[in-house]
Amino acid sequence: MSLSSRLASSCLVRRGAPGFSTSALRAASNRAVVYTKNGDPTSVLTALTHPKLPSPPPSTLNIKFLLAPINPADINVVEGVYPAKPQLTSSLTQSGLGSADTPVYVGGNEGLAEVTEVGSGVEGVKKGDWVIMTRPQAGTWSSNKNVSPRELLKVPRELDGFKLDEVSGATITVNPATAYNMIHDFTTLQEGDWLVQNGANSAVGQAVIQIAAAKGIKTLNFVRNRDNFSELKAQLTSLGATTVLTYDELADKSLRGKIKEWTDGKGIRLGLNCVGGKDTTLMTQLLGQDGHLVTYGAMSKQPLSLPTPMFIFKNLQAHGFWQSRWYQQRGPAEQGELMKKLVQFMSKGQLSPPEHEIVTIGGHESDETATQKVREIMSKLAAGRFGKKVLLRMEEVSSD
Ligand SMILES: NC(=O)c1ccc[n+]([C@@H]2O[C@H](COP(=O)([O-])OP(=O)(O)OC[C@H]3O[C@@H](n4cnc5c(N)ncnc54)[C@H](OP(=O)(O)O)[C@@H]3O)[C@@H](O)[C@H]2O)c1
Repeated sequence: MSLSSRLASSCLVRRGAPGFSTSALRAASNRAVVYTKNGDPTSVLTALTHPKLPSPPPSTLNIKFLLAPINPADINVVEGVYPAKPQLTSSLTQSGLGSADTPVYVGGNEGLAEVTEVGSGVEGVKKGDWVIMTRPQAGTWSSNKNVSPRELLKVPRELDGFKLDEVSGATITVNPATAYNMIHDFTTLQEGDWLVQNGANSAVGQAVIQIAAAKGIKTLNFVRNRDNFSELKAQLTSLGATTVLTYDELADKSLRGKIKEWTDGKGIRLGLNCVGGKDTTLMTQLLGQDGHLVTYGAMSKQPLSLPTPMFIFKNLQAHGFWQSRWYQQRGPAEQGELMKKLVQFMSKGQLSPPEHEIVTIGGHESDETATQKVREIMSKLAAGRFGKKVLLRMEEVSSD
């Protein structure tokens, strides 16, 4: 079986949401970050301790989450302004929050989990395997979960002597996959060609820099100005960035001449945009003949306005990209192949995890303390005070 093969979908799979069997309740010991209605994450998110999962029913398996990132889109989902919606969960408790009386949404889309128990009839996976979620909005801000094999993709813990680290595994599904596909799906770039991107210090941007560098593609990277810009520039350069500039430099008319020189007159054919607003209008003007602008985010929350002459005289093509759509449209084989390619980059030291901070919700902490901690993270993220990817480690709740 290939290292990153999807779990056998031919095995017997019980239909309906895998859930919690009330006949086998044990001591309280699992926890999830939940909400009952959309709104500001600093006020609607709550940590909820719930009974430990029983052994998995046939055709399902139990997993323990090791790490789960908080991505910008996760916040939009909680706010209710993102097209993907999680399903309501009513099987966490028998009464109150998380029960059929008061169903909840469990936060989190992406994460790395370890298989803890395999139900009868499940093939191709064993206790101790590492898995990532392919079902969108799977509720990864949880300590433990009972899931169907159809929701999962197995990732190699080790490949040719390379040991996958937890942070890389927990952040592989969305951002590096997005970076890889955007570089490959819209135009063919050869070694020595250039791409331009904004939000270059985002997790996606860092993956773009590294995957491009591994393929010999040069990158022109834009970030917001800041006091420690030279530090950030050095960090992105160490990842393989060719040039790092701030949005302030987009207004510099001499930049187009420099690009002509850098690209030997060929121009830049791929632009990646996760910001929007007027800086993106200016960045688009840096694209050459037959350029492609791929928009995958809107961090500035400003509309995107594109210069008409670019369409008429330079044959600009503008696209949107959504990794969730990519997963929906591709089968298990292609999904597994993509994961394998990304782990190969990692194994060669060509793709490292994003700058990050791990926040642990300790097993000894009360739900009140845990809730406060989660809301504080959300508040710091909203204020842009982390400057790096935040990952949650939700420990199982200790009984003493
Ligand atoms: N379409 C897809 O399939 C897909 C997949 C993955 C990600 N995304 C999107 O890609 C974007 C980046 O995601 P990520 O997980 O890589 O993010 P991340 O690591 O959390 O980084 C966020 C980035 O956004 C920048 N930013 C924040 N507020 C901004 C503003 N007002 N104006 C300009 N830049 C701002 C930050 O720059 P500073 O350091 O200057 O704050 C940073 O570069 C998000 O919009 C996300 O939704 C889309």
